[in-house]
Amino acid sequence: MSERTVYLSGEFVPESDAKVSIFDRGFTSGDGIYEATRTFRHKLFRLDEHIDRLFNSLAYVRIDCGLSRDEMTERSQEVVSRNLHLLDEDDDYALWHVISRGMRLPGTMTMTGATVAIFAQPVDFTRYARSYIKGVPLITPATRRIPPQSLDPKAKITNKMNHNIAMFEAQQADPNAIPLMLDLDGNICETDTANVFFISKGRLCTPKSRTVLGGITRMVLFELAEKLGIGVVEDDFTPFDMYAAEEAFISGTSGTVVPVNSLNGTKIGGALPGEVSLRLIKAWNEMIGMDCVAQSIRHLGDNESKELLSAWDKRQS
Ligand SMILES: Cc1ncc(COP(=O)(O)O)c(C=O)c1O
Repeated sequence: MSERTVYLSGEFVPESDAKVSIFDRGFTSGDGIYEATRTFRHKLFRLDEHIDRLFNSLAYVRIDCGLSRDEMTERSQEVVSRNLHLLDEDDDYALWHVISRGMRLPGTMTMTGATVAIFAQPVDFTRYARSYIKGVPLITPATRRIPPQSLDPKAKITNKMNHNIAMFEAQQADPNAIPLMLDLDGNICETDTANVFFISKGRLCTPKSRTVLGGITRMVLFELAEKLGIGVVEDDFTPFDMYAAEEAFISGTSGTVVPVNSLNGTKIGGALPGEVSLRLIKAWNEMIGMDCVAQSIRHLGDNESKELLSAWDKRQS
């Protein structure tokens, strides 16, 4: 079959047959949660941790997905294995779980069960490919992160409007910028799709877990930092602390560790990735048994790939 297969509420169906009602509360009210896991060398990375976070999000929003953890794990693996033959050797999948509260039957208060979708899509490697060498600019938008007293950021919920507005604001100022959201007190939190780190006096600094999503990448970076003997500080930090940083990066499932080149126009660090970021990327690559930066860069056009791959090799030597 040349079309990908998705899991939708109890059935495996071709992607084009996977349809959800306009009465689904995921559509009418953004009433759902999601997860994004990726493969490295075609194998799902830290699926258990993603499934844990998924079930934590479900418990928080009081949705019963109708599957046990084991069943969810098994369906997730099956979606990947059913679609592996459609994946090029040098590609990998992003595996999405999207679960909504389900449909309110029209004209009634009766709810159907949850809608559960699991689907795999090739990772968009071009998104960050240039940024490993050139970095991404961060901008603090006017819109603040919804405080944890109102909505716990540890839950990965489908309603991303708070993040979206922040992203629009940042991109109106600079089309390449990524929003670095602040909390109501002006402390840095996270971007619309990633956690944030900076290095100060050789130590890895990042906001406390209270105001951010507990990123799986963030968690694995803590493990790697410990192995490498790099100190980690979780605290309240403001842009003031970051302007003076030695280096900075954002972390997330799709890009892993993506260097930051500036905050609100103020340059951060020198050659990218910075020394500590580079040690973490190398340790990551060793852990997964492949060079995930080179993989991304290879997805750009021939000439650009060649130039950036040579810059990446030089930076590592
Ligand atoms: C708001 C937010 N913060 C952080 C992250 C990073 O989390 P992870 O490392 O699990 O991908 C994401 C990922 O989607 C996110 O949406």
